[in-house]
Amino acid sequence: MNQIAPRIAPPFAVMAELTHRCPLQCPYCSNPLEMLKARAERDTAFWRGVIREAAEMGVLQIHFSGGEPTLRSDLAELIAYATEQGLYANLITSAVLLNEDKLASYAQAGLGHVQISLQGADAETADHIGHYTGAHKKKLEVAKLVTKLGLSLTINAVVHRQNLEQLPRIIDLALQLDADRLEIAHVQYHGWAFANRAALMPTRAQFEAANALVDARREDIGARMQIDYVVPDYYADLPKTCMGGWGQKMLNIAPDGRVLPCHAAETIPGLVFSRADELPLSEIWEGGHAFNKFRGTSWMQEPCSSCALKEVDWGGCRCQAMAITGDAAATDPVCSRSPRHDAMNAMAAAEAQGAPHEFKWRRIL
Ligand code: FES
Repeated sequence: MNQIAPRIAPPFAVMAELTHRCPLQCPYCSNPLEMLKARAERDTAFWRGVIREAAEMGVLQIHFSGGEPTLRSDLAELIAYATEQGLYANLITSAVLLNEDKLASYAQAGLGHVQISLQGADAETADHIGHYTGAHKKKLEVAKLVTKLGLSLTINAVVHRQNLEQLPRIIDLALQLDADRLEIAHVQYHGWAFANRAALMPTRAQFEAANALVDARREDIGARMQIDYVVPDYYADLPKTCMGGWGQKMLNIAPDGRVLPCHAAETIPGLVFSRADELPLSEIWEGGHAFNKFRGTSWMQEPCSSCALKEVDWGGCRCQAMAITGDAAATDPVCSRSPRHDAMNAMAAAEAQGAPHEFKWRRIL
């Protein structure tokens, strides 16, 4: 008797990377080193098709991201269509290209939430890190417009060796901006961040001070503002559940229409990615080569395969295992059971002690 394979639950969210173009040049950008030019981007009809299929699959949220998604002149139309299809729309933006009219058009279209990145607590630091004069001032103005329009606001602060001393002021700033949520994320070393690792790696003392600060501020801020905290992998002992588990919660669509299990998946050699106009999105999600390569636990090696936490962290980050060990199926070296764990810690400590390097800037507009 033929057995029917259990149906794979749909992703919770779709990350729509509408473009790799961006006016900022953050040295920790998660976009690939080889970024796609505007001519490779897909048109409005393509993205409407993605939105319709995502809604039919049961996806609940769509994150419009990039690069800088507000560079797309069809963004309001895409937000409106996503809302019409029943998806909750979130905008992930640097905010530097926004003004009140543009933001109001997105709100009118049904946008529910805006996430604005801050590169520091003051203009001198933040504008240097984003390599864009005037960015910080503009971000603060736009953040105030977000709350004025009644939209939910998340402030995203990526922290590293060159701005961690500003963390107390970043938390105060998010409170002043009346953010619903502050995401403090230590740099995750993919894409441009991997190329700039020696310039960004915090010292262990910085890392421990940040942990203590976040614990204390969470306690006194309470329900007034949610603080989410992403620790730096290289100093952790347990791997994070990257992407909520490979092929389990999210899918990414690159600006050229390729459907990826995560934003960095193309750094893993041998994976086959389909485009969302070649096959139905549900078919790519359920049967696609790249999605099934590291889904579940059957691909795991020791020590992951016998680990009690294998269905908690799902083996950690495949892209990081690839970058550090050269084997995407290896145990994420963040895990203290990985044979590469001590070497990874030692590398982080050595890089953090050196003089801060110049950043290698990303550039595409
Ligand atoms: Fe790709 Fe973690 S970034 S699995």
